[in-house]
This record gives sequence, C-alpha cells and structure tokens, in this order.
Amino acid sequence: MLKVGIDIGGTKIAGGIVDSEGRIVERLRVDTPIDTAALADAVIDMAHHFGAHHDVAAVGVAAAGFIDRDRATVIHAPNIAWRNEPLKAVLEARIDVPVTIENDANAAGWAEFRFGAGREVEHMVMLTMGTGVGGAVVIDGELFRGGHGIGAELGHMRFMRDGLPCGCGQNGCLEQYASGRALQREANAIADGGGIGAALAAVRAEKGTITGPAVSRLVLAGDEGAVEALRRVATALGEACGGFQAVLDPELFVIGGGVAQLGDELLEPVRIAYETSLPGYGDRPIAGFAIAELGNDAGLIGAADLASAEE
Ligand code: BGC
Ligand code: NA
Ligand code: ZN
Repeated sequence: MLKVGIDIGGTKIAGGIVDSEGRIVERLRVDTPIDTAALADAVIDMAHHFGAHHDVAAVGVAAAGFIDRDRATVIHAPNIAWRNEPLKAVLEARIDVPVTIENDANAAGWAEFRFGAGREVEHMVMLTMGTGVGGAVVIDGELFRGGHGIGAELGHMRFMRDGLPCGCGQNGCLEQYASGRALQREANAIADGGGIGAALAAVRAEKGTITGPAVSRLVLAGDEGAVEALRRVATALGEACGGFQAVLDPELFVIGGGVAQLGDELLEPVRIAYETSLPGYGDRPIAGFAIAELGNDAGLIGAADLASAEE
C-alpha cells in the first residue's frame, strides 16, 4: 500500500510516496510559504501531483505544532501562525483520500523507531534540533500522545527560570537553548565578543547573518568559536536528557533536525552533559545516543506510516 507523507518544515515542504516498508518511491520538495493559506495550497498541490500517477491510500502530514487527539486540528504552533487551525478539514476538502495530521517530531520519532536508529529498542526518545526543539516518546513500542494528543512537547519543558521568551507564550523553554536558532544566537553572541569569535564575526560581516549551515561548516573546520557555540547548545540538550532519563528511562535517545548533521561533533558534548546530570550516575544503566538515520526524510516517512487509510 502506498501513502503520501508530507513534512511541513520551517523552510521546506518535503513530500514523498512511501511504501509499507518505509521506502520512498518518489519525492518532491518546495519552499514553505509564509502565509498559512498558501501553505495549505502547497500541500494540496503536492498531494495532487503524487495522486496523478500513483494509487494513494492516504495522506499523512507532519506539522510543527500541538495536534489534537483526533489528529485533525493544530491547536497551537509556537513558530507558525496556526491557532486552532482545522488543517485536516482544510486539506480533505480538496484531497480525495483520508488525511491524518501528526506532530512533526512524533512523525520523525516514529519513523526512526520503525525503520531507523531506534528499530532495535522498545523505549526511545527523539529530539529534533531545528527551528524549534521537537520531541517524540516511544514507550513499550507505542507512540506516547498524552491525554489530549499533545504530550511529548519536550522542547517546551522549562529549562531556565526567568529565561528567554518562547513562541509558546512561556519563557525559559528548552527550545530557546537547544534549537538550531539557539545555535545561531550563541554564534552571534560569540561573534560579538571578539577573540575566538573572529571567524564567526567575519562570516557575519560578509553575509549579513550567521546561518546554521555556516556555523556547521566552521565547526567541522575546527573553529574554536563555532565549537563553543555548539558546546553550549549541546550542553543544554544533554542536561535536559538527564532529566528525561529520570522520568522516562529510555534505552535510546535519537537526535535529529538540521543541527544533527554535525554527528559526533554534536553527540560528544551532549553525552558529557547528559552523564553529568544523571541522577544516580555510576550505578544506573544509561541510555545510548544516536543521530537520526533517516535524516530529513524521517518526518515524511513517519507521517505516511501513521496515516490511516480508512475513516
Ligand atoms: C513545536 C513542536 C514541534 C517542534 C519541532 C516546537 O516549537 O512546539 O510541536 O514538534 O517545534 O518543529
Ligand atoms: Na512531539
Ligand atoms: Zn515554549
């Protein structure tokens, strides 16, 4: 059975036709429109494109927000202008197979659990480091959704008291300290400070901004300032994982999102911070850490796999 998976990211909408083994048969990518009506149009166009030459049973859409229990409405989206947006109804009005909406990180986590880095475990936590910080929790082989469908929003756990304001209306959320955006903010702060920030400052002077990929390039080139920016963000994530271990005791943490392309450069400082914040460290079994194996495809593969074909 073939299903369409569509992952609405901060900069790109990634779509694909996915088979029941999680393999992508055909793919498509477009820029994410800023306006929510244009965004729905882009998703619908993509579904129509795939539907035109494949027998599609269902469409799964991964979206960066709080999705209700019926997998139909985006209740709130910290970084997109959706407020109680009936996304399933909007899409089903113009797509003639059932549409299921899923939280983007849940979709990615589910794909990693079924087909990627988590396929050998039963208890897994996924964190995505992109525009925001997304979370997915797999317990006993099942995706945890909470009482209202919106559990596992790990990026909005308070990490800092009286901390930075967050798009969710709170402050001090983990997302403000461990996301791709946080990495950019730290890189800018280090660039402002002179010294080890010289290379980051030079990039900013030349391009006007310091993008995530620019920080990554400097990290891989061994630049001290960029490595320090990454260490700060990785430390925040690792400390939070120590807390998640206390609550959920997963066997494995899978890290995805743009920042995860740094691989071991990221995982090493994450692990150090994790171990040094674990309650009972030295005595207790600890979790493994892995980079997402499905990369940027995880969200669309998971959304397709979770989409239900019958209403
Ligand atoms: C949102 C999540 C989403 C994550 C990653 C967070 O700001 O609250 O729903 O999964 O960003 O996109
Ligand atoms: Na989630
Ligand atoms: Zn928040």
